Amino acid sequence: DSVKVTKICCSGPTCAVIALKCPHIIVTIVDLNQARVDAWNSPDFKLPIYEPGLEEVVREARGRNLFFSTDVDKGIEEADLIFVSVNTPTKKSGVGAGFAADLNYVELATRRIAQVARTSKIVVEKSTVPCRTAESMRTILEANSKPGCRFDILSNPEFLAEGTAISDLFKPDRVLIGSLQTPEGLSACQSLAAVYANWVPKDRVLTVGLWSSELSKLAANAMLAQRISSINALSAICEATGANIDEVAHAVGYDTRIGPKFLKASVGFGGSCFQKDILNLVYLSESLHLPEVAAYWRQVVEMNEHQKRRFSKRVVDTMFNTITGKRIAVLGFAFKADTGDTRESAAITLIRDFQSEKAYVNIYDPQVPHDQIWADLAEASPLAPVETIQKQVRICSSAMEACQDAEAVVIATEWKEFNDIDWEQVYSNMNKPAFIFDGRLLVDAEKLRKIGFSVTTIGRP
Ligand code: UGA
Repeated sequence: DSVKVTKICCSGPTCAVIALKCPHIIVTIVDLNQARVDAWNSPDFKLPIYEPGLEEVVREARGRNLFFSTDVDKGIEEADLIFVSVNTPTKKSGVGAGFAADLNYVELATRRIAQVARTSKIVVEKSTVPCRTAESMRTILEANSKPGCRFDILSNPEFLAEGTAISDLFKPDRVLIGSLQTPEGLSACQSLAAVYANWVPKDRVLTVGLWSSELSKLAANAMLAQRISSINALSAICEATGANIDEVAHAVGYDTRIGPKFLKASVGFGGSCFQKDILNLVYLSESLHLPEVAAYWRQVVEMNEHQKRRFSKRVVDTMFNTITGKRIAVLGFAFKADTGDTRESAAITLIRDFQSEKAYVNIYDPQVPHDQIWADLAEASPLAPVETIQKQVRICSSAMEACQDAEAVVIATEWKEFNDIDWEQVYSNMNKPAFIFDGRLLVDAEKLRKIGFSVTTIGRP
């Protein structure tokens, strides 16, 4: 008989949805950062992250069966199921630097659980981790457990995407649970499956072995990113031949075996996961003595870098081979629309390239805080003095302001509002010839050409 879960402790906000869908389960979200917890608990719901639909979830469940606290130990002690979802950034130094995941936070969280727990727990690994991390967690927990206290480890990777996180959680394509195939492991797996059964259809809850579950997460992200690098590689051929990448993607995606989603050519993928997870897979392949496999996946990241470089070069080439002293408006700074997240955003690379060509850059993004933009630009050019960056870059509070007196507009993020810009007005405010570079296949190029713009689009000649 599997244990019926009544109290959950977790560190990420995704469990808020569990609280909403399971009023009979007490969910405590713990975070050591007092300011973040205060924000979660704020009376006017000024939550610490922006995610469409999240506020409604918190409004309904907070105080009912959803609680936010800095008391990590109490959360651990009281829970019968604990989600470990902590950061696993790419290591910056030491063995595997630049590739391997830094598992320090996972280990610290695991040791804390072992130290604090006085009753048996199901420990669920939710962070994206290299294959076989669960094994290390199990060893640490077992080596430190108190008598009569057992730990079962599950892997339950997160497949949600930013901006659609809440709807992804409400209606997931699948929920994946990995466990040891022992009677105890399978029973723990049933306990977690029963939690999801409150709102996810049974046939969408997949139960597999621990290692398959861990690898599936890396595999899914690697294959998604590979689709984008494939379509971006084809976009280069389109630009050189006169084919149109949107038409090619449409024709290819009509094959039901390939499918239409995730085939949008772009200035390059960003986000906190794709590159990190692929590099992880590269590192894993190398440690398993599979250099050809490693090289195959590495190429997905290299193609992405190439796409960004190619785009910057096209801007310079088109503007008569120099952008020195010219003003360029960059619309969008987030790595994709509907998020304020800038991690690995292609915009950062483009702006750095424009800066090194000695252009002036005006930036506008509807969500990203200005401090974040300054911090990202400083990190991207560690050798440039802050004053130099501030001389070259201006952050604007509207698209119209950013485009004022510019020679070129570069669309770096596919924010819907860029479609509703009064382009006639923009045109009259710009220096001529007025260039537009659409890195997101967002605007209607023909319409803009009629106004007078010179329009350059990814994947079109
Ligand atoms: C990604 C995956 O889509 C999620 O399934 C996964 O759970 C998540 O990573 C994670 O591991 O946490 P996310 O990074 O939020 O989600 O964003 P995506 O929507 O996947 O977009 C990633 C990047 O690819 C963005 O820069 C986006 O603009 C770009 N993209 C996406 C394209 O250039 N073309 C496309 O057709 C789709």
